[in-house]
Amino acid sequence: MSDFWNQKYAGDDYFYGDAPNDFLRSQVFRLRPGARVLVVGDGEGRNGVWLASQGFDVTTVDFSEVGCEKSRALALQKNVSLTTHCADLLTWDWPVATFDAVVSVFLHFMPADRRMIHAKMQAALVPGGWLIIELFHPNQLAYTSGGPKNREMLNTSAELAGDFDALDWWLIAEGETRLEEGPGHAGMGFVSHAVGLKISIIDI
Ligand SMILES: C[S@@+](CC[C@H](N)C(=O)[O-])C[C@H]1O[C@@H](n2cnc3c(N)ncnc32)[C@H](O)[C@@H]1O
Repeated sequence: MSDFWNQKYAGDDYFYGDAPNDFLRSQVFRLRPGARVLVVGDGEGRNGVWLASQGFDVTTVDFSEVGCEKSRALALQKNVSLTTHCADLLTWDWPVATFDAVVSVFLHFMPADRRMIHAKMQAALVPGGWLIIELFHPNQLAYTSGGPKNREMLNTSAELAGDFDALDWWLIAEGETRLEEGPGHAGMGFVSHAVGLKISIIDI
């Protein structure tokens, strides 16, 4: 499967551009200065590198070797440092209660894998840590701006929210948006996105 992504990233250009995702940019004000941020499925590094440029302590994971190399090149070009793991998230040894934020942008899985990965993201957060997540909605099947063509890999915001049982939601939404993210995501699209805060105290 990483071959699929290696081929997409094979060109000299950045397939999703080198600017951060708009939703991430709009939500980053919630993070404290210097926060430890885990960016999962970071591809060619546009989001991780931008977060590092904002002063965050960034760790990224992606299983595309080409994507990881391009992330490192982008970090060098922007003169920032970050930790990049080239690993499969399905088998990665996920840290627990380690990050002040987890960022997931257009990372899609089949349902059982998605629920497992989302549980790992939640567990990776410290209490009081933020999840910032955006992915394509099933309505995206009617658009030509990118994303998987399999309904099972696309999620409503309600499906997304249902995967997390230890977050207080600050924002859950779905709707049409214009994507200007390189040749990979270009034009109108339909997304689900959410921001949640990991609860600190569980009332019994
Ligand atoms: C649609 S791209 C999005 C890339 C990046 N988040 C962005 O918005 O520019 C999805 C990314 O998820 C990565 N990915 C998919 N499945 C993965 C897995 N099991 N482990 C690690 N990375 C994975 C792919 O390599 C690809 O870079």
